[in-house]
Amino acid sequence: MADPASKRVLLTGGSSGVGFEAAKVLSAQGHELMIVCRNQATADQTRSLLPGCVHTLISDLADLGAVATVCSQLVDAGAALDALVLNAGLQYAGASDPQFSAHGIELTFAVNQLAHQLMAMRLLPLLQKSNSPRVVITASEVHNPSSGAGKVGKPADLGDLQGLRAGPGFAMMNGSPSFDGNKAYKDSKLCNVLMARELDRQLDAVMPVIAWSPGLVITRNNGGFFRYNKRSNPLGMGTFAFVARDLLRITESPENAGRLLAQLVSDPEPSLGFSYVTNKLLRPGVHRLEPTDTSAEGADLQKATELWRLSELLMSELLISLT
Ligand SMILES: NC(=O)c1ccc[n+]([C@@H]2O[C@H](COP(=O)([O-])OP(=O)(O)OC[C@H]3O[C@@H](n4cnc5c(N)ncnc54)[C@H](OP(=O)(O)O)[C@@H]3O)[C@@H](O)[C@H]2O)c1
Repeated sequence: MADPASKRVLLTGGSSGVGFEAAKVLSAQGHELMIVCRNQATADQTRSLLPGCVHTLISDLADLGAVATVCSQLVDAGAALDALVLNAGLQYAGASDPQFSAHGIELTFAVNQLAHQLMAMRLLPLLQKSNSPRVVITASEVHNPSSGAGKVGKPADLGDLQGLRAGPGFAMMNGSPSFDGNKAYKDSKLCNVLMARELDRQLDAVMPVIAWSPGLVITRNNGGFFRYNKRSNPLGMGTFAFVARDLLRITESPENAGRLLAQLVSDPEPSLGFSYVTNKLLRPGVHRLEPTDTSAEGADLQKATELWRLSELLMSELLISLT
């Protein structure tokens, strides 16, 4: 008989970094995992490295049609979902030319935000079948222009969402035609915070909707999250990692960040409604997960609603044009 404490968890970004480490903990604890992987090879590798009950689903999150298909398969199967963990992400740091999905959506926004909103919209009925559902979204402190990392370079700001209003082909959310990969990432993480706010508003605080920031996470091997950086060379990345991780000790390990994500997913008594928690650096080498204020823009409920509405409109147009 299934352990009543065992949760059925859907996780994006579970094939590497924070998500993979969280998956290790959760599957070892006996939770049933469904990990969305970008292709079969990644799925096979991920499953082979994890203990316990792990299923993989194939979807490149840049492809909204593929995301919709995976969601339909899950909804048709009908099983309740206890946790929806929207964790996948990428950053084209240093890039000044946008890259677009097959449907003309800038990739940072397409993967980090749009695919995740689509999953939240489509999978909500499965969450509502659970006795103890929750949504966990991996955002980042860079969404906040007054945070340490949020101050470096151009700050996050979505303006009046002019880019999104204009439809496919926009480079930046605020309508600017010149692309800045770092800012696009910060904007996407601000979108993640606003998505959590709007989801909670729609649900009227009936379940926990947790946005969180893992801190600066650097791996020891493949450059981890920073592997997409356009301007970085291996030497520069190695130096950055050595200084941040080993000299200044301001980074978090993927293992610890993964444990925190697993904790947010399996916490037996999470508070209902929206919350934002960050893995705060207290002093070199010491972090603590604590409730944190979002930026003022991240608390703008009107913008949250408008972001959701425009994104839904865009996706409905794109998904209709796909059929
Ligand atoms: N690292 C940091 O310092 C940091 C700080 C704050 C917030 N975050 C956030 O933490 C989350 C996890 O990042 P991480 O550090 O663990 O980075 P990571 O090791 O690069 O993991 C990113 C995950 O997202 C998946 N992914 C990316 N694009 C995808 C696509 N098109 N389709 C399907 N899956 C895709 C990757 O799949 P593949 O394995 O196939 O590439 C991988 O599983 C992200 O949301 C990131 O924004 C990270």
